[in-house]
This record gives sequence, C-alpha cells and structure tokens, in this order.
Amino acid sequence: MSDRNGGGCSGVAALERLRGHAVGLDVEYPLATGERTKRIYLDTTASALRLQVVQDVLDRYQPYYANTHSLLHFGAKVSTREFAWAHDMVMNFVHADPETHTAFFVGSGTTGGMNRVARTLRDARPERDVVITSVMEHHSNDLPHRKFLGEVVHVPALVERTSLGRVNMDRLREALEEYGDRVNYVAITWVSNVTGIINPVHEIAALAHEKGALVVVDAAAAAAHVPIKMCGNENPAHDIDVLVFSGHKVYAPGSPGVVVTRKDLFAGQDPMEVGGGMVDDVYLNRHMTVQKFPDREEAGTPNITGAIGLAASLYTLDRIGMDVLADEERKLMRYLMDGLRTVPDMMIYAECDFDVCERAGAVSFNLRDLDHAFVAAVLNDYFNISVRNQCFCAHPYVREMITEVLSEAAEDLDEDEIERLADLHRGMVRASLGIYTRREDIDALIAALKTITADRDTYLAHYDRLDSGDYKHKTFDFDHTSVFSVRGEVDAWLEKDPT
Ligand SMILES: Cc1ncc(COP(=O)(O)O)c(C=O)c1O
Repeated sequence: MSDRNGGGCSGVAALERLRGHAVGLDVEYPLATGERTKRIYLDTTASALRLQVVQDVLDRYQPYYANTHSLLHFGAKVSTREFAWAHDMVMNFVHADPETHTAFFVGSGTTGGMNRVARTLRDARPERDVVITSVMEHHSNDLPHRKFLGEVVHVPALVERTSLGRVNMDRLREALEEYGDRVNYVAITWVSNVTGIINPVHEIAALAHEKGALVVVDAAAAAAHVPIKMCGNENPAHDIDVLVFSGHKVYAPGSPGVVVTRKDLFAGQDPMEVGGGMVDDVYLNRHMTVQKFPDREEAGTPNITGAIGLAASLYTLDRIGMDVLADEERKLMRYLMDGLRTVPDMMIYAECDFDVCERAGAVSFNLRDLDHAFVAAVLNDYFNISVRNQCFCAHPYVREMITEVLSEAAEDLDEDEIERLADLHRGMVRASLGIYTRREDIDALIAALKTITADRDTYLAHYDRLDSGDYKHKTFDFDHTSVFSVRGEVDAWLEKDPT
C-alpha cells in the first residue's frame, strides 16, 4: 500500500494546491450577452476535467512512449514498467488484495468493463442465470446483464419514507430469497449518476454472499468521490468481488475502463478477447493462452497512455486522501442543496435529507414550468455554466422520479397542468461537482437559476424549441471553430514558420 497522505504536504494543503489546476478550468467562451467569460464546469459526473498534474505527467511521459509488447529497448522498458505500476496503483487505490484479486484495463470505460464481466460470469457460473440489479442503474450496468444473462430483476430504490433514495434493502432481500441459487450476481451502482445517492454496497455484498451470489459494483460515479475498500473489511462477507470504473470519471484523459476482480472468477475459462499479448504460443490449429493475470485479459496493444494517466490521477487522489476529499465534497454538496432550496419553483429529485440518504457529487432538478433543455441552454448561453440535462443514461430511474414528484404535486394541480409539466419534465438538469469546484461556482449557479425563474419570459422569447427537444437561441450562434477545430490546428501547425 502507498504512503497515504504522504510526501510531505498534508491532504488539505495538497487539495488546495490542485484545486485551481485542471485542464480547461479557465477556458473562456463568448456568450449571448456579448461578453466573454470563464466557463463554470458543473458536469463532472459526465466527464471530469483532467487534473493539470496528470496532464503534465503524461506530457513528460510521451517522449518515452513505446509499445509494452516490445520488451528490450529503453522506451519499451519505461512503458512496460509504468504500465505495470498502473495496475498496482489501481489495486492499491481500491484496497484489493493481490493474492486474490487482479486489475485489468479494457476499452470504452465502465461500459466495456461491464460487458466483459457479464459475459465472463455467465460462462463461469452457467447454472446461475439471474442478475439482480436496481432501478437506479446507468444503462451500462443494466443492458449488458440483460443481453448476456437469462433474467434481470430490478429492485426499486425506496427508503423507509416515500421518496426515492438508496436501493431498497428489504426488496433486495426478498429478491435474493425468491431467486435463491439462480442468482449469479447482484450488480449495483455505488453512487447514482443521477442523484449522487450512495448505496450501502458492503451491506449489499453481505446479503448477496449469504445466498452464494457475487457482488459486482459499478464505481463509475463513486471512484473519485468515496473511499473504496474492496478487501480486508472487518467482516469478510463485506468484501467486493468485482468493481468497474472509468478513467474519464477520475480526472484522467480518455476512457480506459478498469475491472478489478477476484481472479478465480476469470481463471477457469478462456479469456473473452483474444489476439496479441495474451498468448504464450500460437500454431495454425491451436494457441496457448497466458495464464498470468492481468496479461491474459488484455489482448492487443493496451491503452497504455490512458492507463498511466488513470493511475497518475489515482496516485494524486491517494496522496490527498479519499477521506479528505469525501469530507470536503460532503460539505460542498450540502452547500449546493441548501442553495438550490432557495430558488423559487425548484423541484429537487429524490430524498434530500442527508441523514436519510447521503449524496456524493451530483444532484438533479427541474424548475417548475420550464423545460430542462431550456434551463440547460440558458445556463450555458448566458451564464457560461456547463451542466448536463435529459435522462443521463438512466431512463427508468429518471422516469420514476419525475412521476413521483408530479404525483406529490397532484393535490395542488389540475389534470391539464400535470400533463403539461409531465411533457416539460421528460428529463432533468444535473449539476455535478469535482475536486476543482468552489463555493463561488455554486453561488453562480444559484444566482443564475434565480435570474432565469425571475426573467423566464424574457429568456423564453430568445429561444426556439427544435424538433429534437433542444433549444436554439434566435440570434446567438456559437461557432465552435472560433475556439477550436482539429483542421484549424493542423493547418496552423503546418503553416508555422519552421525557424
Ligand atoms: C454510474 C455510471 N455507470 C456507468 C457509466 C458509464 O461509464 P462509461 O461511459 O465510462 O462507460 C456512467 C457514466 O456516466 C455512470 O455514471
């Protein structure tokens, strides 16, 4: 294990140092007001801005880049060793035991990892054809199980009170009872990418293990926000069998996915993907697979730079201390929620009482009477605030929450009004936080939302609603090539005076 919070400066001091240094934090855009201002980035749950330290490390690494399959020249040695270190760093970050667990990189983020896990566990435990998951899941922790396993059961997300919250543990228990030894694994998100609500994954693991089921954790929205302890929990039943996350969610560039898994689950069968790098030898009629982890799971030239960037970021977060980060973020989340509650016509989705459900990193909302796409467009065009809207690849969960909030409002509204709101609120606006988010950013969001609600008619008059459901400003047209285009950059480089 690394020297956590080590290296001479305290976690809080290191955090302060990092905070102002992320790539793109200071980027400016022209606005509909005619001004040009710095963008406020509140879309970390979609993709986090990369930390400047990670970018600098990768820039320093690039001259030494070489293929990890070339073994003997200097560049290959640098790459091979740092790529191996990247695996160690992942294991260290999630507290996985190298005796029992391994980490390997896959393409296309968490989605790539979940597809691989679903196919592998189907083949590893063919007698168990059921997956239990929850209604809160991102599609990438739902559709792969639907595609590759026999049956997928969705447990609702309800806490003791009426509002949607964490996964409902009673219903999970019932589903495990009902499907018994047919359950291959419980696939659960640690943190919801829609509401930021945190699920009790260790308790879920214990319930699953009681029935001989595994637990597969989607840590895409969790890895940069909560401390992760896969192994070595006081109660070993709380340990996690498989965990998946993505580089672009942890302040690293690109989207390498990473799977950390118990080795025995993958060891008994041929790797799902075959090609160079995972074979000892190949004849025309047969091949011998490398048995060593992680090599056997990484066919082809890996995303070496992506993996090293991801590991550089995890090392940085580890130096600060995930407990310190989680603590800081908890305060910021409360500040955000308190601020949102002061905005007139605000509808915040899911359980808002932190003592009932803790949240990490994200909150979704609507302004009554206003379309989520309109609010997101005005936040961007007039205030330079980047948020995400729509359903965040979690359609069932978003639909259920919208229905819940509208039915709560039903007592005060007539049927036409409910129908109109249902039409406007087919999605939500999501604000999400990262290591670089400051209170000033939240203040700017709250002030902007208040201005939008107060001057809604003025803003509405400036927009057309397109058939796609998006909103287009009538006179302001952002030409992205005015700030960046690949062609423009290449042309400029080629035309530069070589002296
Ligand atoms: C909770 C959760 N799971 C899975 C994913 C999918 O991650 P990726 O796009 O890296 O495959 C996301 C991405 O938003 C997510 O937030």
